[in-house]
Amino acid sequence: MNQRLSAPLSIVVGITGGIAAFKAVSVVRAFVREGHNVQVVATDAALRFVGRPTLEAMSRNVVHSDLYEGVAEVRHVAIGQAADLIVIAPATANTIAKLAAGIADDLLGNTVLASTAPVVVAPAMHTEMWLNPATQANVATLRARGVTIVGPDSGQLTGDDSGPGRLSEPDAIVAAALAAVSLTAKRPRDLAGKRVLVTAGGTREAIDPVRFIGNRSSGRQGVAIALAAAARGADVTLIAANLEIAAPATVTVVPVTSAFELQDAAQAAAPDADVIVMAAAVADYRPRLVADAKIKKEQQGDELTIELVKNPDILKSLTEVRTPGQIIIGFGAETETDPDALLELARAKAKRKGTDFLVVNRVSWSEGFATEDNEVVIVTDTGDIVMKAAGSKASVANSILDLVG
Ligand code: CTP
Repeated sequence: MNQRLSAPLSIVVGITGGIAAFKAVSVVRAFVREGHNVQVVATDAALRFVGRPTLEAMSRNVVHSDLYEGVAEVRHVAIGQAADLIVIAPATANTIAKLAAGIADDLLGNTVLASTAPVVVAPAMHTEMWLNPATQANVATLRARGVTIVGPDSGQLTGDDSGPGRLSEPDAIVAAALAAVSLTAKRPRDLAGKRVLVTAGGTREAIDPVRFIGNRSSGRQGVAIALAAAARGADVTLIAANLEIAAPATVTVVPVTSAFELQDAAQAAAPDADVIVMAAAVADYRPRLVADAKIKKEQQGDELTIELVKNPDILKSLTEVRTPGQIIIGFGAETETDPDALLELARAKAKRKGTDFLVVNRVSWSEGFATEDNEVVIVTDTGDIVMKAAGSKASVANSILDLVG
C-alpha cells in the first residue's frame, strides 16, 4: 500500500445504485483535482443513475463494472490490490449487507475483498432502510472491522420524506477518506512481532440458569484496540466477554462469560503476552450461591436478597506476576464529573492495580457505553498524565497503542 501521503494515491471510488450516485461525480472530481488517480468501479445499478461517459470524463479513466472484463489481467483482484484507498459512495443497504457478509458477486465486492487498503463507506438510503436492524447490524460489523462510515446526513430524501439517510456532502466524504489514509499511513506495522492480549466486554455473574448480574460495557473500545493492534502487525488474542459487536476476524478470540472464566483465560494467555490491555468491565462481585434451577416468585415472596461476594482482581493478579518488559494497561470507568477528582481516582487506581498505564474515561447513563466515540486520560504508574485522547474508539485505540508501539 502507498504510505506516502504527498504522492498521488490510487483511489477506487465504488458507486452503487441510488439517486445519490450523481453526487459521486463530485467525489471523483475532488480526488482528481487533488492529483490522485481514480478508478471508478460502478455496479450495474449505479450506471442506471449516472452515465458512464460522465464518470469517465471526470475520472479520466475507463469505468469498471463487469466482473468478466479484463479477465486476462485478473482485473477482479488487480484493482483492489493496487488501491491505496477505497471509497464507496453512495453505498446502498444492499451493498452494505454484501460487504458485511463478504459477498463477491460483482466487481466491487471482489475489489473490496482483494484489498488491504482503508475502506470508507458513505451510506445513502431511505430512513426506514437505514434504521432497519439488519442495516444497523451490518454497519456495526463494518465499523468493527475498521471501515470508516461517513454519514448518512439527515435531511430531505428522494421522495417527500426526510430523515437520516441522505448521502453526506462530497467534501465531507473526501475529507474523511483522506483522513482514513493518513491515519493508516502514520501508523506503520510498528507492533509486528509483538503479542498483544486484550480483554473486552462485560462479565456476567450467574444468579440462576436464566439470570445474571451484568454491566453496560459493549466491548467496543476493547475490540477497537484489538483490531488496531492487529492492523499494526501484532499477534492479538482477544478475550471476549459477552460482546455486543462482532469480534474482528484478524485476532484469536477466546469467548468467556464470567469473571472467573475471564481470569482463567487471562492468566493462561498472559505469560506469552508482550502487552496486556484490560479493557473488560469485570464484575467486582458475584452471587455467593448460584441456584441450580430458576428462582420462582412463589417461593420467594415479595423480596429477594442476593448475597454477593467479591471477585478476584484479575488485573492486579496479572501485574503482580508480570514478565520482564511486559506492559500492562488497565482501564477505569468513573462517574466522577469533576476532572481533578477524576484524575485523582485514576492515580489511586493506577497505584492500587500496579499498571504501567491506566486509561480513565467518564461514564454516565449517556456517556461511554455503546457509543462510537470516547474521551480518555491516560496516567502512568507514577500518576503523570501521558496522554489525553478523544475521538472515535478506533482513533483512541491507536493513541493508546502509540504508548507501546
Ligand atoms: N478489573 C479486574 N478485575 C476485577 C475488577 C476490575 O481485572 N475484579 C480491571 C478492569 O478490567 C479494569 C480495571 O481493573 O482494567 C479497573 O476496573 P474498575 O472496576 O474500574 O476498578 P475497581 O478496582 O473495581 O475500582 P472501583 O470499584 O473503586 O472503581
